Amino acid sequence: MSQAQNQEPQTELGRFETHYANWYEESVRDPNRFWGRHGKRIHWFEPYSIVNNASFEGNVSIRWFEDGTTNVSYNCLDRHLQENGDRTAIIWEGDDPSESRKISYRALHEEVCRFANALRDRGVKKGDTVTIYMPMIPEAAVAMLACARVGAVHSVVFGGFSPEALAGRMVDCDSSVLVTASESLRGGRRIPLKQSADKAIQIAVHQGLTVSTVFVVGERDHVPSFVEGRDVLYREAVETASPECAAEHMNAEDPFFILYTSGSTGKPKGVLHTTGGYLVYASMTHEVVFDYRPNEVYWCTADVGWVTGHSYLVYGPLANAATTLMFEGVPTYPNAGRMWEIVEKHRVNLLYTAPTALRTLMGAGDDYVTRSDRSSLRVLGTVGEPINPEVWEWYSRVVGDNRCPVVDTWWQTETGGHMIAPIAGVTPLKPGSATLPFFGVVPVIVDQEGNVLTGVAEGNLCIAQSWPGQMRTLYNDHARFIQTYFSTYQGKYFTGDGCRRDADGYYWITGRVDDVLNVSGHRMGTAEVESALVSHPSVAEAAVVGYPHDIKGQGIYCYVTLMGGVSFDDELQKSLIAHVRSEIGPIATPDHIQFAPGLPKTRSGKIMRRILRKIAENDLSSLGDTSTLADPTVVDDLVANRLASK
Ligand code: WT7
Repeated sequence: MSQAQNQEPQTELGRFETHYANWYEESVRDPNRFWGRHGKRIHWFEPYSIVNNASFEGNVSIRWFEDGTTNVSYNCLDRHLQENGDRTAIIWEGDDPSESRKISYRALHEEVCRFANALRDRGVKKGDTVTIYMPMIPEAAVAMLACARVGAVHSVVFGGFSPEALAGRMVDCDSSVLVTASESLRGGRRIPLKQSADKAIQIAVHQGLTVSTVFVVGERDHVPSFVEGRDVLYREAVETASPECAAEHMNAEDPFFILYTSGSTGKPKGVLHTTGGYLVYASMTHEVVFDYRPNEVYWCTADVGWVTGHSYLVYGPLANAATTLMFEGVPTYPNAGRMWEIVEKHRVNLLYTAPTALRTLMGAGDDYVTRSDRSSLRVLGTVGEPINPEVWEWYSRVVGDNRCPVVDTWWQTETGGHMIAPIAGVTPLKPGSATLPFFGVVPVIVDQEGNVLTGVAEGNLCIAQSWPGQMRTLYNDHARFIQTYFSTYQGKYFTGDGCRRDADGYYWITGRVDDVLNVSGHRMGTAEVESALVSHPSVAEAAVVGYPHDIKGQGIYCYVTLMGGVSFDDELQKSLIAHVRSEIGPIATPDHIQFAPGLPKTRSGKIMRRILRKIAENDLSSLGDTSTLADPTVVDDLVANRLASK
């Protein structure tokens, strides 16, 4: 698999079995040699001579393959045409079970070239930012690949985000071009994306952004408030553009994409990934962790708006010439058997999904699963949040008929690809553990003071050494990048997760140790929900914490203090919920809002979230020491209100 420009990487299980330990040892001892070899799995216009040049100290600088030039679109398309042009690149399955479409590599290449020319026609050039706000339709992947082709930096914003959230992201990266669709169809419901996009543009323009072009996928009659001059029908642009478009030669370290994600404080951060290292890492992990083999059908259920959709729906699979399935709908429509019907219909071999979906489907009963033919399945993957061992067992036994390895993959938007994950069929598994680090990844567990713990240990998870898929900076904010990831534990990348290592050296992720929530696998800052709440005219102050939720993993629990004269009732509660949904999006819908006459604060004014978490969890017996609070009696009120509300 290290052969230069290998189109169809061959994974041979036996080889890994004997070599994992050797490979891993070499990968961390001599990253230049290891990645020097594996960097060649993609095509380089100009080969690299320098492999790794990274420092986690001082100004933090991370560079991989820095003197090589390549292009992601070329690697995902052109490179496959000769041998695999007729192979299906994308299988699209619509919300309506009777709708699906197959697009060959040749057809996808042509469409991407045409749309890349359409982007160029509207003035988009190397280094420009383009925002993509799309449903789960092939045109989303086309837009991403077309940006890659011309060297534009894309920022995909999840289609479920509100106009406010979209506007903030467009303004932050100064994006004057937007690609969207008239609507999305999910669970039989129409979601008016273009309408939200129009609202977002209004807000963004008000904040000083110039929006020159909006490409809209959809029929002219279905596009509401079409703005002549600004709005362009995607179909017309593609049809009139030339099908030939040379791929821009990009330096390995040229910015590739921005993806906004939530942190523990402030507004979402623009995680920046660059070109060469990202693609090497996404494609290699896709092949190795899932043991992807040529001609297999691979299905990742993540939305393109999240990093999983970038690395394991689009770029990793397409770089490996895989057939990738994209599903616009939801797992429970028309019924809870939909996912398994899709597996049967398209003979899916590898499935990658989230624990939250599995928990929902497990609750619906085994019959929904067993009535479909799942004999095509070979590997099952999971991502996004800790998977409970019971759910893991169910996935393995009921979905996989005890024949398919379950690979629990731990990683983050920031890491670009899998970090701690088994190699399917090779690594011995333990339900609930993401098992062992991928090649080149050096996990370290530290205590609160930053001491590195060895052997069996529990603490905070850091990564000691750079890997090619690592984010390079926060867009336009390198200082925040250093502050967020490299200052808590000097010289180490801090993940924000807690972690335990067992006697076999296996890693068990215990969840976030910062103020980041994970709701149905969606990452959210408590600070974002709080700032949405306090922007409501009736709210004086808000504190948000997570609490265990059977389906979502974590639920959103909000404490609000109100403006003088406002009383807390059902109507206000509804209005607060609607307000948060419109500020952020439905994924941030509060599960519980509790009225708080006061919030528990230290004398220096810091909110003691530990106490709020305990109350949210209904664990009232162990509130701990409250004597350092400025006013300990507020806790009694909170407990009384908690009891009153449940
Ligand atoms: C956070 C990153 C990675 C793509 C999807 C989420 C949690 C992710 C696992 C896992 C336990 C996991 C962590 C991480 N997480 N995968 N297999 N087991 N926790 O990306 O939105 O950047 O969120 O998701 O807490 O820090 P993200």
